[in-house]
Formats: sequence, structure tokens, C-alpha cells
Amino acid sequence: MRKYVDLIRHTFYFDGEDFAVQNGELYFHGVQLAPIVEQYGTPLRFTYLPKISQNIQKAKSLFASAMQKVGYEGKYNYCYCTKSSHFSFVVEEAIKNQIGLETSSAFDLEIIMALHRKGLIDKNQTILHNGYKDPTYTAAIRQILHSGFQNSIPILDHTSEIEAYEGAPLTQIGLRLATDEEPHMQFYTSRLGIPLKELLAFYEQRLKNQSTIKLKLLHFFVNAGIKDTVHFWSELNKIVYTYCELRKICPDLSILDIGGGFPIKDSLGFQYDYEYMTDSIVKNIKQVCDEHNVPVPDIYTEFGSFTVGESGGIIFSVLEKKQQNDKELWYMLDGSLITHLPDVWGMNQKFIMLAVNNWENDYHHVHLGGRTCDSMDYYTSEKHIAKIMLPKSDSKQYIGFFNTGAYQESLGGYGGIQHCLIPAARHVIIDRDSQGEIHHHLFRDQQNSAEMLKILGYAQ
Ligand SMILES: Cc1ncc(COP(=O)(O)O)c(C=O)c1O
Repeated sequence: MRKYVDLIRHTFYFDGEDFAVQNGELYFHGVQLAPIVEQYGTPLRFTYLPKISQNIQKAKSLFASAMQKVGYEGKYNYCYCTKSSHFSFVVEEAIKNQIGLETSSAFDLEIIMALHRKGLIDKNQTILHNGYKDPTYTAAIRQILHSGFQNSIPILDHTSEIEAYEGAPLTQIGLRLATDEEPHMQFYTSRLGIPLKELLAFYEQRLKNQSTIKLKLLHFFVNAGIKDTVHFWSELNKIVYTYCELRKICPDLSILDIGGGFPIKDSLGFQYDYEYMTDSIVKNIKQVCDEHNVPVPDIYTEFGSFTVGESGGIIFSVLEKKQQNDKELWYMLDGSLITHLPDVWGMNQKFIMLAVNNWENDYHHVHLGGRTCDSMDYYTSEKHIAKIMLPKSDSKQYIGFFNTGAYQESLGGYGGIQHCLIPAARHVIIDRDSQGEIHHHLFRDQQNSAEMLKILGYAQ
């Protein structure tokens, strides 16, 4: 018999710190998933909280070691980009690790105020206000500045944004440099940020002689992520050179914010040399600064996916097996790829997909179908191979998608109206106590029809 467990073990280095199999069942970070699924039902979204702190600490130690290797005199500051997952349990876990926060919209600032009311952050908290800002967002930033958050730094997306802060107790700002996109994109320069040719002139004309507002930070974000590509290194060099040019005329400039984009494991075959990339970033920045004879900046990152992505997963049940022709067997899921994992549908994103049980069974080639009526609601290939193998089974079969903790709820909507009125999944939080014991509880039950009917105007 060709067992599913053998297929996975022969294809990948399996049984690492994130996945293991025992008695035919899958463990995620040491958590046996099937009993949790039996207890709460499916579709079941879950967050394994300890992974959030683990990844933050991993990045901190990577940057600390990279800085130590080259005698880097600046500091490293980890910021969490809240838009990757705004959930309170995510942000509250992240801020246990002495980090800054990055906001993207007016409502984000309500989250900051809520954290402050709960006593979880104080008014020295580093908060970076990023993104293109509408009047409600700049008004919320003014409010937070007035309320005394002294390390709140608006990062100007365009030069006239500065006018929105007139009259506010603004002491420090950042500028976002517009990056150039990868060649396959339909445009050359990102719509976000200030074009390079305007940036130095803006400093000279508007900021240089300002006595109260200091230019503290220079930021860029490479949409394609922090990858070992010519594109990333040339964009990084561009910003470091710009930092050096600015630093020569602006002694207050002390932070280089290199944005988000640290990747996460999206396949069991995922390979990425975090240490090499971090070492190279830090070494590069130091080298260019030394050549220009300017002090190195403190390095800030705004990792979103890396903070929360690997903490999450979603588990579906197979409702039915439909043999549609000689070759095509569909496992019909009790959820939807379009609504529950919108990146699958919108970006052809692959996640780690594994059976949760029946690992000792024989396997076969299947297609996974979501339960909306949209023909695009399917998952039929993996990152490493253009097909999907799953166990044959006569009993209940659970299928898990892993490392799905970033962006899926914010893109798919949470508790709203979705395709074919598929409800938002129940969400379970899994944690460990100081003794390492596993605990879990229901954060929110599956969305019910009454909520949807209310949104749709059928009920008060
Ligand atoms: C300005 C900015 N910073 C940080 C991030 C987070 O990126 P990631 O989730 O890839 O780390 C984003 C994502 O879009 C962003 O736009």
C-alpha cells in the first residue's frame, strides 16, 4: 500500500518543529489537531499564538547577530504592520515582545487607543503611520499626537500631506520613497510614496528650515518582498544612497525603515536563508554609509506576514467525494477557497495543504472544491507539483491549510456578506501556558444567518 504518510515523508523533510505525524494524525507545533476539530467543528480557523512571539524573537536575534558581525552601531526596531491581522489576540501577543506598531488607516488608530485604554501600551509606544492618507486618517493622527503619543511618526506618502498636520504637536516625520516595481508589473513606479526626484528638493524647500518638525525616518517598501533578487538589492541600494545624501544635510535623520516582506513558509519545500538575507541587508547598509562617511541609521522593519502568517490555519471537512469523470475526483469542502482563503483565488497563492487525519491510508489524486457556485472556487495544485494527493478514506476526512494567518480575513471580509452567503468560519485560539501545557478556546463561533440578514436589511 502507498501510504500518505510515506508520500509526504519521501517528498519533503518532514517532522520538523512545525509539523509531525503520530498514529496517522497531524500535529502542528506539537498540537494534535483532530481532537480540536472534533470539539469545535469545521470549517475551523485557528491561531497558534506562541508562533507570533517566536517569529518576532527570531527576527530580533537575526538582526542583532547581523549587526554584531559587522560592528553596526545602530539599533534594530521590530514593528508589526497591523493590517496583516488586526485581531486583538494577535496584536496583544505581538506587543508582549517590545515592538513598535505600524498603522494603515484611521480605524487602526482606534485600535491604538483601545490598547492604551487597556494599559497594554503607553504614550512612548513607537507608532508609524504609513499609507496613503485620507482626511479621516490624518485627523486621527492629529488626535493621537494631541493626546501625547510622542513617538508617533507620520510617514508622508506625498509631499502635501504635511499640510494636514498644521497646528498639531508634530515633532518628527518620515518620508516614504516610491520604489520602482518589478519588470512584469503594468507600471514602473509605485503609486505609494514620494518620487526620488522630489524627495531631496522637498526636504530643502519645506523641512530644512523648520524649527519644530524633524525629519527622522526614511522608508520604502518593496512590494515583491525581501528576496535575493537584483530588483530587491537595487531598490535597497537606492534607498540607502538616498539616506546618505539626505543624512549629509539632515542631521536629525536616524531611521531607515525597510518595510515588510520577510517571506513565510508556503510549501513544505520552502527554502529561504533568513540569516544570509539579514546579514546582507545590514552589511550593505553599513558599507554604503561608510563609503559616504555618514553614521548608520537605526533599522526598522514592518513585518506583517512574517509576524502572524505562520501562526494560523484553517481546517475543512470533506463533505462528499464526487467522481466527475474517469480521472477527476473532487473532494467537496464545507468551506470556500474564495471566501475563506481569498489569496488562493485572487493571487493564485499556495499554502501548505495537508490531511489532518488518515495518514496511514493509501493516497490518490484529487481536486479540492469549495462550496460556492463559482467555477473558480477550487484548489488543484501545490507549489511544487501541479496536482494534489490526499488520503483515500471512507471515514471523516479533515483537510488543513496552514500558515494562513495573514491577510485572509481582512481580504475575505470577516462577519460580513460573502459569496453565496458562506459564513465566516469559527475561530479557535490555541496557546501554551508557562508550563508548556496547551490550552484552546473559541474566540468566535461560525457566523450566523441573523447577522447576515441584518446587514442585508431583512432584519433590524
Ligand atoms: C507599507 C507596508 N509595510 C509593511 C507591509 C507588510 O508586508 P508583509 O506582510 O509582506 O510583511 C505592507 C504590506 O502591504 C505595507 O504596505
